[in-house]
Amino acid sequence: MSASQHPIQLQGVNLETIAQEFGSPVYVYDGDKIVSQIKSLQSAFATVPLKIKYATKALSNINILKLVKKAGEGVDAVSIEEIMICMKAGFTAGEIMYTPSGVNFREVEEAVALGVIVNLDSIPLMEEFGAMYGNTVAACIRINPHIMAGGNAKISVGHIQSKFGISIQQLPEIIEVVKNFDIKIKGLHIHTGSDILDAEIFLRGGNVLFEAAMNFPDLAFLDFGGGFKVAYKSGDPATDIAEVGAKVSAAFNEFCEKYGRKLELWLEPGKFLVSESGYLIVEANVVKKTPQITFVGVDSGLNHLIRPMMYDAFHDVYNLSNPEGDQKPYNVVGYICETDTLAKDRMLASVTKGDFLVFKNAGAYGFSMSSNYNSRLRPAEVLVWEGKAQLIREREIFEDLIRHQVILDI
Ligand code: LLP
Repeated sequence: MSASQHPIQLQGVNLETIAQEFGSPVYVYDGDKIVSQIKSLQSAFATVPLKIKYATKALSNINILKLVKKAGEGVDAVSIEEIMICMKAGFTAGEIMYTPSGVNFREVEEAVALGVIVNLDSIPLMEEFGAMYGNTVAACIRINPHIMAGGNAKISVGHIQSKFGISIQQLPEIIEVVKNFDIKIKGLHIHTGSDILDAEIFLRGGNVLFEAAMNFPDLAFLDFGGGFKVAYKSGDPATDIAEVGAKVSAAFNEFCEKYGRKLELWLEPGKFLVSESGYLIVEANVVKKTPQITFVGVDSGLNHLIRPMMYDAFHDVYNLSNPEGDQKPYNVVGYICETDTLAKDRMLASVTKGDFLVFKNAGAYGFSMSSNYNSRLRPAEVLVWEGKAQLIREREIFEDLIRHQVILDI
C-alpha cells in the first residue's frame, strides 16, 4: 500500500503533532468518521423506522457516546456499569437496551429500577423476571437463531452451541413462560456474530425473527443485532451496507404488512460505527535485527491492542514519521513479556528508533479491551472533533495501578 493511502492528518490536524502533544502511546478517534458511519446506516435503512443502538462495549468513552446521542441514536449496554456510563453521557433509560449474558438477577433488578429495557437471554431468567414483574415491566427476548456467522469461531455467537440467547428450537417453551407469567414482550433480538460480510446472513436472521414474532402480538421492535464487517486492510471486503439495508428493509416492510403493525427495526453496530475512526499511535523503542527478522519493538503491546493475539486480527500499520521512506519488512512487536506480535511480516517505510507508528482500525475493541498486564499503564485517548484534537481520557499514572490494592502490614 502506498504511503498516501494512510492518513497523516485527521480533519486537518496532524497525527504526529497529536502524538507529540499528548504523548505516546495514544488512541486517537476521528469524530467525523463516526458521524458519517451513522449517517450511512441511517440512509441505507431510510425506508424503515430505524433505531441504532450502538454497542457500547466497542468503545465506551463518554465523549464517543455523546456523539452517538447527538446523532439522535441509542445504545446497547451489556453491564450495569455500561448502562451507568451511557446515562452519564446523557442517554435516557428509554434509549438504552440492556443485553446481559448470564448475569446475576440482582443486576437485572438494578437495570429495571433504572428504567432500562432488559433483553432476556435464558429461560430461567425469563421465569425469574416473570415471577418478579409479571406484566408490569416490558422486556425483550434474545433468540439464538442457530446461524453460524462471523469472522472467526470466537466471535460467532448465534450458532447452536453458543451460550448466547434462547434457542429458536425452544420457542414453544418461551411462549409457555410468557403466557404463564403474563410477561409483556416488546421486542425480539438476535445477534449472530461480528465481521459478517454477507447480506444473506442478516436476511436469514430476519426470517427467524419474523417467524418467532408471529407469536407475540404486542411487539414494538425487532432487533437484528450488530456485526457488520469493516475493511481491515486495503482490498479487504466490507459489508455492503446499502445492499443489507435495501434487502433487510424490504423483507422487514413486507413482514410488517403481514404482522399488521409497523415495528421499529433496531441495529446494534459496534465495529461499523467506530472501528475505522480509531488510530493507535505508538513509538518505536528499538529496531532489532536478528538473523531472520527485523523487529520493531514499540511502547505498547497486547495490553493496549489485544485483537491480533486474541483473534489473529490484522491491523494495518504504517510509519507516520517517515512516510516516504524505503519499504522494508518488519515484525512489529509489543513490550509485554509474551509473544505479542502486533503486526507480522509487514512492509513499512524504513523505521528508526523514535518514529511514530500508527495502527489503523483501532477504534472498536481497542481501548475497551485494554488491560494493565505487566503493570503497564493504559494510554490516553484523544478525540478530533470540529477540527480540534482534545484529550478525552488522561493517560494512566502509576498511582492508578495500585489505587485499589490494600497493603497489609507484613
Ligand atoms: N450486539 C451484541 C449483543 C453484541 O454482543 C455485539 C458484540 C454487538 C452487538 C456488536 O458487534 P459488532 O457490530 O461490533 O461486530 N471483540 C471482538 C468482537 C466481539 C463482539 C462482541 N459482541 C473483536 O474485537 O473482533
